[in-house]
Amino acid sequence: DAMAEPVFAPSNIALCKYWGKRDAELNLPVNSSLSISLAHLGTKTQLSVAEKDEVWLNGNQLAADDKFAVKVIRYIDLFRGDNSQAVKVETENNIPTAAGLASSASGFAALMLAINQFYGLNFEPQVLSAFARMGSGSASRSLYHGFVEWQMGYRDNGMDSFAMPLEHSWPDLRVGLVKVSTAEKAVDSRSGMNRTVDTAHLYQSWPLQAAADLEKLHQAIANKNFTLLGETAEQNALSMHATMIASWPPLLYWQPDSVAAMQAIWQLRASGTEVYFTMDAGPNLKLLFSAANEAAVKQQFPAMEVVCPFT
Ligand code: DP6
Repeated sequence: DAMAEPVFAPSNIALCKYWGKRDAELNLPVNSSLSISLAHLGTKTQLSVAEKDEVWLNGNQLAADDKFAVKVIRYIDLFRGDNSQAVKVETENNIPTAAGLASSASGFAALMLAINQFYGLNFEPQVLSAFARMGSGSASRSLYHGFVEWQMGYRDNGMDSFAMPLEHSWPDLRVGLVKVSTAEKAVDSRSGMNRTVDTAHLYQSWPLQAAADLEKLHQAIANKNFTLLGETAEQNALSMHATMIASWPPLLYWQPDSVAAMQAIWQLRASGTEVYFTMDAGPNLKLLFSAANEAAVKQQFPAMEVVCPFT
């Protein structure tokens, strides 16, 4: 048997968010979304032959009944068919797990790539993306680097709901990761979005917001219009959080330090440093700025990790 190579998938940050499912089993979204991948930050996964199914995370073997291990094996079961060969799954994240930095996105994308290689499935990229989506919606976008759009699709079987890379590159663009807390999040994305869809009347405005923002982001990316990119991403994130806050029980992922960071960013903008933020289902901020402003932003956020998505 040829030894399978470890495969890598990058984490991604949505500039237009996925929030709400029209099919919770298949992870079919209510709206299309657009993200930027985080280059070297992500997940490396390898499958190999074993005596019994084993799941290893960052060098530690997980208990057979561990939640994550069960999810991984159940996912592999979708593809191994009659092949009863047990497998060892080794996965390494170089991003903090469950800290709002979407390790499930790169995790399922890397797992899908590893499965494709190990079982010799030779799936087309669009099929890989659609299957990664079934593991975690945002994983559909982690199959690619750079700007990526996940088209919501319309079919009931979901095979037209996959991500595609955008051809544009933007070498000056920087993403800053500002960690407010790396604690496990209180309510995971799946439960959070289901609660929002079920209980927030405000959610009705979300598909309109997302569609308008997607248009603006396409324009911003095509014209390298940083102001339009940043303003759109920040407003999109805050609109999503507005629907979360309007849910019942309320979903507020922010901590006091998250709000302090927002205010520091608005202060920086007011004094002429162009920087914007986006946030997911957690307390951390992801900043958008140009290379020329990196020093000024770092001065305000010294612990920030800076990612160059296009180099
Ligand atoms: C706020 O992809 O983690 O990060 O499909 O239930 O696994 P599931 O959800 P997930 O949700 C991500 C939500 C988000 C926005 C985004 O990444 O688009």
